[in-house]
Amino acid sequence: MINKKVLELLVNQYNKELYSAYLYVEFSNYLEGLSLSGFAHWYTEQAKEEVEHAEKIRKYIFDNGEKLSLEQIDKPVVDFKNVRDVLTAGLKHEEYVTSLINKIYEVALEVKEFKTVEFLGWFVKEQVEEEKNANELITKFDLSGCDKSNHSLYSLDKELANRA
Ligand code: FEO
Repeated sequence: MINKKVLELLVNQYNKELYSAYLYVEFSNYLEGLSLSGFAHWYTEQAKEEVEHAEKIRKYIFDNGEKLSLEQIDKPVVDFKNVRDVLTAGLKHEEYVTSLINKIYEVALEVKEFKTVEFLGWFVKEQVEEEKNANELITKFDLSGCDKSNHSLYSLDKELANRA
């Protein structure tokens, strides 16, 4: 069993992880449309990670004898003017996800559900990594002058194509 309030938040988080995947596929669509297949690849890989995050939560819910069913996933609303907008939207989204994880952690602590606190530890650490990656992407973009040089943009695109 999982505390009812915590379970509701976990089910919501499951949906948000799938939404994250959906959002990052939309990022890829935009970038692919600019012929930046390396950037597009980077976000396609990110989308796969998000599905893995959702799967971790799904498994935890069933492992604890609870049930889960799918909710509607929101359509991502994106309005990018340039590549940098995509990167900053990625960072903003990860900061939002961190706040959601923190909220579940807080409630699990409040109701003394230590197994969920323990389970969420992985996500707390993962969000450090997620924000770091999103920040690094912006730093690389800025430091290499991608907004001023197509050559720099091309080089970074080639580098991002290697994300496994
Ligand atoms: Fe599942 Fe990017 O956080």
